[in-house]
Amino acid sequence: MWQIPDGKPTADAVAWALDAGYRHVDTAKIYGNEKGVGEGIRRSGIPRAEIWVTTKLWPTDQLNIRKAFDSSLGRLDVGHIDLYLVHWPTPGLVTRTWKAMEELYAGGACKAIGVSNHSIGQLSQILRIATTPPAVNQVKCSPFGFDPKLLEFCTTHGIVVEAYSPLTKGARLQDDRLRAIAQQYGKSPAQILIRWALQKGTVVLPKSQHRDRINENARVFDFAITAHDIDRLDGFAA
Ligand SMILES: NC(=O)c1ccc[n+]([C@@H]2O[C@H](COP(=O)([O-])OP(=O)(O)OC[C@H]3O[C@@H](n4cnc5c(N)ncnc54)[C@H](OP(=O)(O)O)[C@@H]3O)[C@@H](O)[C@H]2O)c1
Repeated sequence: MWQIPDGKPTADAVAWALDAGYRHVDTAKIYGNEKGVGEGIRRSGIPRAEIWVTTKLWPTDQLNIRKAFDSSLGRLDVGHIDLYLVHWPTPGLVTRTWKAMEELYAGGACKAIGVSNHSIGQLSQILRIATTPPAVNQVKCSPFGFDPKLLEFCTTHGIVVEAYSPLTKGARLQDDRLRAIAQQYGKSPAQILIRWALQKGTVVLPKSQHRDRINENARVFDFAITAHDIDRLDGFAA
């Protein structure tokens, strides 16, 4: 939900997405729209138990995690937070922050804890000291930029990869190679990028504040990209 203003624009986007079948809403304190996310969820009429809500800890709050978590919970006002992520690693504080996240989790505050933008080295530091390993690493991931070694590391260690900016923030949707593949499948470039991320085994987080695009981005379960074309897409990063 990055870059969607709080209030009605965010609440509309969330309610439209839930109506279209999405069940995961990703926000963060720093996006400034947790209130709108909560409003959209409440307005949707979808049972809370069917929705997965993620928000994130901003680095300046990492010495006071409980307070930051409770503030997010208050702004969301949806009963509970499902997944709480460390938004960015701070060198020197990676393991200390993780220990505090584990304390929060052990107290039953949320269903799962994880990280975002963490490298293999930082994940390894955490795994060495963790009682509860990160459930998730949320990272930038599209054919135009992804780290196969990080994906493999996460898979090996049972860490779910969530793909953010899967549509390249809209920047590469006109790429000729991507458009050619989209045309071949009778799909839009956005649908090809989302399908690629799904076939890579990631949990994909496309963002739109337009209802038609929210619907379009959900229509990705009626086709599959061949292994050959996945390889072609993988080559875009080179
Ligand atoms: N953990 C992190 O550090 C981090 C960083 C960045 C993002 N994220 C998360 O990942 C989510 C997605 O990433 P993102 O917002 O950076 O970018 P994105 O999903 O890659 O791209 C969003 C852009 O694509 C446009 N778009 C969406 N669907 C489209 C379609 N079907 N056709 C044409 N254009 C389309 C959107 O425009 P409209 O909205 O105008 O339709 C918007 O400009 C964020 O909202 C956030 O929840 C996390």
